[in-house]
Amino acid sequence: MKLLLAPMEGLLDATLRDVLTRAGGISRCVSEFIRVTDTVLPERVFFRVMPELAEGGCTPAGVPVRGQLLGSDPVCLADNAARLASLSPHGVDLNFGCPAKVVNRHGGGAALLDEPELMHRILREVRRTVPAGTVVSAKMRLGTQDDARAVECAQALAEGGAMELVVHGRTKLQGYRPPAYWDRIGAIREAVAVPVVANGEIWTVDDARRCQAESGCTDLMLGRGMVCDPGLALAVRAAVAGEGARASVGLDWAALQPLLAVFWDRVRLHIVPRHQAGRLKQWLNLLRRCHPEAEAAYQAWRGETDGRRIALALLGPEGAGPGGEGRAAGARYTAGSLPSGGAFVPTHSPRHVPVFQGPGDLGVRTQERCADRPGAATQDA
Ligand SMILES: Cc1cc2nc3c(=O)[nH]c(=O)nc-3n(C[C@H](O)[C@H](O)[C@H](O)COP(=O)(O)O)c2cc1C
Repeated sequence: MKLLLAPMEGLLDATLRDVLTRAGGISRCVSEFIRVTDTVLPERVFFRVMPELAEGGCTPAGVPVRGQLLGSDPVCLADNAARLASLSPHGVDLNFGCPAKVVNRHGGGAALLDEPELMHRILREVRRTVPAGTVVSAKMRLGTQDDARAVECAQALAEGGAMELVVHGRTKLQGYRPPAYWDRIGAIREAVAVPVVANGEIWTVDDARRCQAESGCTDLMLGRGMVCDPGLALAVRAAVAGEGARASVGLDWAALQPLLAVFWDRVRLHIVPRHQAGRLKQWLNLLRRCHPEAEAAYQAWRGETDGRRIALALLGPEGAGPGGEGRAAGARYTAGSLPSGGAFVPTHSPRHVPVFQGPGDLGVRTQERCADRPGAATQDA
């Protein structure tokens, strides 16, 4: 059974990928989406969203990360996929599920689900441009307004060359409103020859088991459930292995303390002081769904703007580290600088992300125009 950690723009960045993969049980991560328009992005953009590229493409816990691209132009996506592939990620993933208006307005993300022919062309062009040894996968929703073309879309991706599909069991219109239609993922699984990973609304071990049963998929992708309960992947594995005694919360609050300490350590190392409190409160906000202690801390500290004061309350003086400006005095927070020595440059200002908020616009700067290659898939479909 593979358990993948979902891409979540504005929330599940390299810091949280580091922490959640240390918790255990995750087989692979997908980066937040990297938005592609009409240029080949400079390498620094890929490193900024996916600093793991500087460390063999894995999180510090050794879990591989796949880079995700979002766009609608087959040639441009292919050129950017080739550049990403040259940095040796553990595969290239293509986003056909983002419901954000700013992305859909430019024909990217879930908007493509109305155009299976274009989806096919994108996959074909990316597949033939990146080296044969690079895995190309895709993540999709069930459709835009309804799921009538879900199977057609999945087949377009698989026949175009996607080696794995992750299916979020909802349409764009359904947004993040429960339920997720796991049985519809099953219909896709039966219609394509490539592995299908089921995604959406898996918050507990029981959800994971029901999702597996209804979709027929063994492999699952965990998003918000894993952020709220970092022990979820371990608990799912234990349940599947027949260790029924473990409850849905795999790690209790005490077991989470070392992970909170790592989180804070990365935050104060890499994020400027004025954004540190926001980053801590963002994760606390989500943790309170499963942990009453997080709820108490969130209520007590929601108005606090000094991250170290929150860290002191949560972790004590040792866990909170040195006072004053701490190591964040040297934090680099400007877009466009390459990470060095494993340092992490966030993609954007940390902000409060409620549990049901969707992805926003990454708004990366562009530089080099995409090749206008003769015979490219845009012209020969
Ligand atoms: C804040 C947020 C950001 C997201 N960003 C991305 C993204 O960058 N790429 C992507 O393919 N899906 C993105 N998603 C969708 C998730 O990967 C996942 O499909 C969705 O949250 C359903 O899974 P869950 O119920 O386990 O959270 C995002 C979802 C949220 C809530």
